[in-house]
Amino acid sequence: AAATGLNLDDIQGDILVGMKKNKQLFYFFSIADPADFKGKLAADILPLITTTNQLLSVSTQPITLVNIAFSQTGLTALNATESLGDSFFAGGQFQDLPNLGDPGSTNWVPEFTGTGIHGVLLFASDTDDNINNSVASLESALGDSINKVYSLAAAARPAPNVGHEHFGFLDGISNPAINGFTANPMPGQSNLSAGTILLGETGDSATRPAWAKDGSFLVFRQLKQLVPEFDKFLTDNAIVQDGLTPQQGSDLLGARMVGRWKSGAPVDLAPLFDDPVLGADPTRNNDFTFQHPDAVLSTNQTRCPFSAHIRKTRPRADLSTPEVTFGHIMRAGIPYGPEVSADEAASNTTSTERGLAFVSYQSSISGGFRFLQQTWADSANFVHSGVGVDPIIGALAGAPRVISGLDPTNAAKTVTLTTDFVVSRGGEYFFSPSLSAIASKLSV
Ligand code: HEM
Repeated sequence: AAATGLNLDDIQGDILVGMKKNKQLFYFFSIADPADFKGKLAADILPLITTTNQLLSVSTQPITLVNIAFSQTGLTALNATESLGDSFFAGGQFQDLPNLGDPGSTNWVPEFTGTGIHGVLLFASDTDDNINNSVASLESALGDSINKVYSLAAAARPAPNVGHEHFGFLDGISNPAINGFTANPMPGQSNLSAGTILLGETGDSATRPAWAKDGSFLVFRQLKQLVPEFDKFLTDNAIVQDGLTPQQGSDLLGARMVGRWKSGAPVDLAPLFDDPVLGADPTRNNDFTFQHPDAVLSTNQTRCPFSAHIRKTRPRADLSTPEVTFGHIMRAGIPYGPEVSADEAASNTTSTERGLAFVSYQSSISGGFRFLQQTWADSANFVHSGVGVDPIIGALAGAPRVISGLDPTNAAKTVTLTTDFVVSRGGEYFFSPSLSAIASKLSV
């Protein structure tokens, strides 16, 4: 990536680049003493914040990366009361729960059920010790100005699964290229104006206070994944097709639910068997549109089901050519929780929580995360009537999910999922401000 036009010393590093460390801690806090906290925000937190420029070069990366973001109630506590122009941010995620497909708040982490979280500190490093040292020293500097409300420790999976989420699929492949920032977009990457992700930049037409420029809305979701249950489902429902062993049929089903093989190879380009060389090649692994000269786009799911997670969340040519510029997010999530134990695998039952600490950045929550979740993933009729919800993240408040297109030999055949393999444990909507906004607005 190279800088042209954006002030990369002012934009927090996680937004456009992602911290991409093996360990990350999400530290959720409330502000106990706003006046005291403001002073410490300027003196103790601001100097620690890792900028985009710092992240771009390993030589300038600190040992522990730090970013910060605030909820609406946090901004209000700091007397930053102007509307940021996003009603969902203003209401907070708990208020939005009924619109996200979550079956009530029974599975939510109690600390997320309300508006008591004022902010989140993101720490990332190569080791837990580095993070723990940073947290301890910041906690002692902040003293009683904040209270810790909740935290979630996340970590890349161990080799050979580094970079793979807990179901086993390589993640972090397809993020948008940003005009004026991404020097060499990869084939098939979407190209977006900076204003799709950053407030106040080209392409963001909403009315914002001047200090909100170069900030971004951070959506956090703690998404528990039922891995042994998912694996059992794949075994029990393996696709039966000439030339496939039961294991290959079960791998194919998983790949069709995601739209990619575990290696990252897209099923649109590798429809029957995994192709790890393709999966590992960034010049080819995102270079597809779902359109093929030998098939009619609106009926073609021989290669990739319409309901596949990556086709639901980025329909590419299904919606338009060139691709639409709305409904895009910058993802920066990381897995949390341990590997599946032998007991869990043998019993096909999760006993220790694991999942994805989902993070997305966007300049509009309604046009970003929320749109992808509600209007695309949770709709059985997107992109075509009756295709079913996204089998990975689509949720219908706990109701069974009927999905078609998973069997390449019979697109009309439906599968009914009675288990949600991804269970929302809630989260919050945050705003990740520019460093100058922290210096000139939030800490004064
Ligand atoms: C892509 C898994 C939650 C939006 C992917 C990929 C995987 C994956 C394996 C393919 C790799 C890549 O392109 O980077 C998961 C899992 C989730 C989850 C296991 C939950 C535990 C979400 C949520 C959203 C989302 C909540 C948004 C509402 C996307 C998008 C892409 C993607 C936009 C890229 C699509 C593309 O550009 O082709 N996800 N995801 N994901 N996911 Fe998810």
